[in-house]
Amino acid sequence: MINIITYILLAIVCFGYCHKSRPKRHFSSEEYRINTPSCDVVCEGQWKSEFHANFHKIYDTDYFEIPLDTAIVKNRASLKMFCSSTIQKYTCLRKECRILRTPWSAEKHICIGHFDNFDRNINCLSLTDRYVQKECSDVCNSIRIEISQAEISRMAEMEFSRQEKSEFIEQNKHCNFIACHQLCHEYIINKVCIDSAVSARSVVKSYYDSYLEREYTALNKDDQDELYSSFCRRVTPGQDENLYTANMTRYNNLTLDRMKNDIRSAFSILD
Ligand SMILES: *[C@@H]1O[C@H](CO)[C@@H](O)[C@H](O)[C@H]1NC(C)=O
Ligand SMILES: *[C@@H]1O[C@H](CO)[C@@H](O)[C@H](O)[C@H]1NC(C)=O
Repeated sequence: MINIITYILLAIVCFGYCHKSRPKRHFSSEEYRINTPSCDVVCEGQWKSEFHANFHKIYDTDYFEIPLDTAIVKNRASLKMFCSSTIQKYTCLRKECRILRTPWSAEKHICIGHFDNFDRNINCLSLTDRYVQKECSDVCNSIRIEISQAEISRMAEMEFSRQEKSEFIEQNKHCNFIACHQLCHEYIINKVCIDSAVSARSVVKSYYDSYLEREYTALNKDDQDELYSSFCRRVTPGQDENLYTANMTRYNNLTLDRMKNDIRSAFSILD
């Protein structure tokens, strides 16, 4: 069992790193029988290796879903290159693996669900790229993240295990980081895009909304949705910040206000 897992891991790493310059690779059925990795792992590996060939970066370590990666927002050519290989990945999953239903993914959202919106707003988005990668990352990596006394008490009342507590805290941090990047990106759009700001903001908002919905769905699927903090619920569409802990609106308002202030002061140079 260990051997099979090791082999699969090596195969993934190899698909990620070994075929640097091969533009497209068609897998014959012969190769399926030789390769132990399952079909979807092969489609995924091919996609990552194309990412490496196209962007000279390693997907697993150099590509970020939050904030929107440079590969997506740098310019139209970059977006098209990323999306054409993403579409190939999903074609591979459908045709070669007969996987018709795939879960939400950032790249599927961008390249399949909302490609036209990203494409239409690429000029504005590309103006935001340098600020998003540098200043937004600086601010959002250093925001102060706290958990309210009310939720600390609730965790004690509910007798959360040490692990549950740490998952709660990590998830809450993650939600703060995501919300910060969303606010920051929207803030930059308002500063640097004149005519297209409304439409570009809605592209960014729908990406972050879907991202957060997926965060919630993943916890909910494992029946762990009590580990989703009030702040996480506040920023996730369709969730109620006061579901498990009452009267959290003011606390969350303050958290968001503080975040907005941090963002504003980081960009005072743009005013
Ligand atoms: C929530 O706030 C209201 C109004 O301030 C108060 O009456 C109520 O007791 C609070 N609920 C809890 C659980 O703290
Ligand atoms: C929280 O902020 C919203 C506006 O963003 C405001 O309408 C609401 O009254 C605030 N609530 C509290 C309890 O501070």
